[in-house]
Amino acid sequence: MSIALQLRGIEKRFGATPVLRDVDLAVRAGERHALIGPNGAGKSTLFSLIAGAQRASAGRIELMGEDTTRLSCAALARRGLARSFQTTSVFARLSVLDNMRCAVLASRRGWGGCVDRWIGSRHVDARATQVLEAIGLSAFAEHAAGMLSYAEQRALDLGLALAGGAHTLLLDEPTAGMNRAESARAIELIRSVSAGKTLLIIEHDMDAVFSLADRVSVLVQGRVIATGTPEAIRADAAVREAYLGSGVGQ
Ligand SMILES: Nc1ncnc2c1ncn2[C@@H]1O[C@H](COP(=O)(O)OP(=O)(O)OP(=O)(O)O)[C@@H](O)[C@H]1O
Ligand SMILES: [Mg+2]
Repeated sequence: MSIALQLRGIEKRFGATPVLRDVDLAVRAGERHALIGPNGAGKSTLFSLIAGAQRASAGRIELMGEDTTRLSCAALARRGLARSFQTTSVFARLSVLDNMRCAVLASRRGWGGCVDRWIGSRHVDARATQVLEAIGLSAFAEHAAGMLSYAEQRALDLGLALAGGAHTLLLDEPTAGMNRAESARAIELIRSVSAGKTLLIIEHDMDAVFSLADRVSVLVQGRVIATGTPEAIRADAAVREAYLGSGVGQ
């Protein structure tokens, strides 16, 4: 089975403070892999390193077998990696469709020099419309994104990450701040749009994690303390002690 994303010996320090310590992680191509752990464990920092937004202090990152440890966000995006953030990041005053057009434009190679050619292009519009359809927001295409409900804005956020056709998705707490019904719908959406892709998802909602993930890794104080199937993680004594607590996930 091929590995989409491989981390070896990842360390990250902010000044003298170690935040990630000797992190090894292998995400298989096409799997849905959840990263869980307490607040401050280093989950979002790990995403920043994978996505090229920050540099690891030590260690190696490979995407589809290529050493990407020192690549920029833009270079990683061109190689098919997309990331959504813990907080919603849509352009509130732009229409939903224009938000999507921006994301499609930004994902086009060499767009900087010939943006005029792309703006209004049928290819950009077709792709933007296709992604809106996939995330269920077609009916809101002409609405200002800021007028959408919170859950809809998170769906749009997901669509922005998908716009460039990435094969590997990093989603940071996509259901944060949602009620149970919204969260369940968001997880179904993620399940459908991630079909055939590799997904690494940070998620606190254990029902969501255990229903969505093929495998789960647990990060505690900057270390991966366990990786396994949802069933194995649920039954792991060290994980229960460090994170799940008694009664959670039963
Ligand atoms: N730029 C930075 N400079 C200094 N410390 C940082 C920086 N970014 C994160 N940290 C620290 O690193 C630790 C890990 O933070 P991180 O945001 O990665 O945790 P997390 O697991 O995503 O937590 P949460 O579940 O709350 O989102 C925290 O103690 C945080 O304060
Ligand atoms: Mg975080």
